[in-house]
Amino acid sequence: MTISEKLREVLQRADSICVLTGAGLSAESGVPTFRGDDGIWKKFKPEELASFDAFIRNPALVWEWYSYRKKVVGEVKPNAGHYALAQMQDLVADFTHVTQNVDNLHARAGCRGVLELHGNITRSLCIDCGRHAGESTQVIFTTVPKCEFCGGLLRPDVVWFGELLPAAAFEQSVEGARRCDLFLSIGTSGVVHPAASLPLIAREAGASVVEINPVYTDLSAHVHETLLGKSGDILPQLVTLMKESHHHEPT
Ligand code: OAD
Repeated sequence: MTISEKLREVLQRADSICVLTGAGLSAESGVPTFRGDDGIWKKFKPEELASFDAFIRNPALVWEWYSYRKKVVGEVKPNAGHYALAQMQDLVADFTHVTQNVDNLHARAGCRGVLELHGNITRSLCIDCGRHAGESTQVIFTTVPKCEFCGGLLRPDVVWFGELLPAAAFEQSVEGARRCDLFLSIGTSGVVHPAASLPLIAREAGASVVEINPVYTDLSAHVHETLLGKSGDILPQLVTLMKESHHHEPT
């Protein structure tokens, strides 16, 4: 993988960067992706596990699956890609970090203000009163958990198929995409909308759009450049380049 002169220049000049991350960013931490050869959706049907109807039909089954995923994300650690994004945030005046991931690894790597479009698996909330459960970060449920306030069913605080994205977070993501000089689409297959429309919005507004992925995706035809490789290898290289440019700036 070589970084083009053009991208070097953009990286060193950019005042505003927007990144969109997907499951591929956490792959090197050991969290399975959704659509790869070993992807989650190869083994399970999303409509049986990741929809409100499925939850109401069989809350115990849905909780068993989410408890397993909570256990996985609790056992793994952020990787070099997550840490590189935390560093990138401090190297640019305006940084918008949008993620489709629910695994909380960005926050654990020190990223601040991450816009979590699909929620966060470490939180739970009541389907009746909407209040969040306390200390749910640590809890792996063995039975269907109930709300401590009203006794309603608790659900994972994630966005299921057929549900709307958190409106404020999506709005801020769109604004970030419109404002940025450089948009990075990292470790996402780019097929789940509306998140997948963000790189297109950025391009339309004049940003350089670059994708990082070991393979070409549905998005590839619409970006300026695809950096073929793992995010854990490529992102630290981009950060190094950014640091060099800041180092050489006249004071
Ligand atoms: P996908 O599983 O669809 O795509 C993961 C992408 O990561 C693929 O394009 C892989 O090629 C790429 N990838 C794998 N290893 C990588 C690595 N080391 N470095 C960089 N990229 C790598 O995951 P998402 O695009 O995140 O939604 O999926 C989007 C949404 O679909 C998810 O948020 C989830 C799912 O259904 C909900 O749950 C609502």
